[in-house]
Amino acid sequence: GFFRPVDAATTPTAHLRRLTKISVIGAGNVGMAIAQTILTRDLADEIALVDALPDKLRGEMLDLQHAAAFLPRTRLVSDTDMAVTRGSDLVIVTAGARQIPGETRLDLLQRNVALFRKIVPPVAEHSPEALLLIVSNPVDVLTYVAWKLSGFPSCRVIGSGTNLDSSRFRFLLAEHLDVNAQDVQAYMVGEHGDSSVAVWSSVSVAGMPVLKTLRQSHASFNEAALEDIRRAVVDSAYEVISLKGYTSWAIGYSVASLAASLLRDQRRIHPVSVLARGFHGITDDHEVFLSLPARLGRGGVLGVAEMELTEEEARRLRRSAKTLWENCQLLGL
Ligand code: NAI
Ligand code: LAC
Repeated sequence: GFFRPVDAATTPTAHLRRLTKISVIGAGNVGMAIAQTILTRDLADEIALVDALPDKLRGEMLDLQHAAAFLPRTRLVSDTDMAVTRGSDLVIVTAGARQIPGETRLDLLQRNVALFRKIVPPVAEHSPEALLLIVSNPVDVLTYVAWKLSGFPSCRVIGSGTNLDSSRFRFLLAEHLDVNAQDVQAYMVGEHGDSSVAVWSSVSVAGMPVLKTLRQSHASFNEAALEDIRRAVVDSAYEVISLKGYTSWAIGYSVASLAASLLRDQRRIHPVSVLARGFHGITDDHEVFLSLPARLGRGGVLGVAEMELTEEEARRLRRSAKTLWENCQLLGL
């Protein structure tokens, strides 16, 4: 053969390290942006792709395999049968209908819940120890649905939530302040949607409270100006969807950052959709998922930050929770 063993009497141990497997359900705009970013960041030893459209699925897999010479070695497999996901460490669900221009994320609810009833049970059966990361919209309600249908502990069922919205918020603030977005500490919490809450009271740069500094330097920075920025974050997705038909690149980087924090046990803090009952006055009987800053590691949600919120921020968060809980109640799960 091409290579001769250093010692014919011994053979290398197969795998000294347990291999990491990520499955992506849904090989559409979002699923493939996520898969491509996971590949580029070398986050998995194996990636399994699942979709309902066999030709599209095989085409996407082959197209990524052809980049092998430019990427760390990663085994890429795909199948319309969920069995291909067996033994995943992380399963990312992006399958589902997406908004058409003008549609809200909640408008997708019934279509995507029906899909989840078919997708989630086999995912859980093939990978009973996996972390579930839900991306399909409406992501907060679908994360609740995935929790109920999988039977997994809530710490292992996470929605991408406002990790993306917070990145958009940080981008807008960074542009305004002429600093790097990575140096802007800023959170959107609550629904990944129209009722998301900008936590202005804790926005900081270099440890300095941004709101106080902005108000001192810009008298025009009143409540209306703050709401305009929050609205610009919420409208980001609608604007991109109206221009290119969908969003994909930012969510691809957002979800890959979550995958890295989870699988590399980073203990990083991300605003993601978690079981929020009991936080900030959300009543214990409201089993609702919404985004709060959570500490993420290999076990999933290691803890949720008990943020200092103003009464107005807490009130808006509870209103976001009520909207989501009302949608969850429609499902009879
Ligand atoms: P897309 O239409 O490009 O891809 C969806 C894929 O799901 C299609 O390839 C379709 O064949 C597949 N699919 C449908 N039924 C399936 C099944 N039973 N099993 C496996 N695959 C199935 O849509 P896109 O743009 O990728 O968006 C996907 C979802 O992600 C949408 O719900 C969208 O709203 C959501 N999204 C969420 C974001 C977030 O921040 N949480 C950001 C961007 C999109
Ligand atoms: C977004 C939508 C599609 O925020 O969820 O990009």
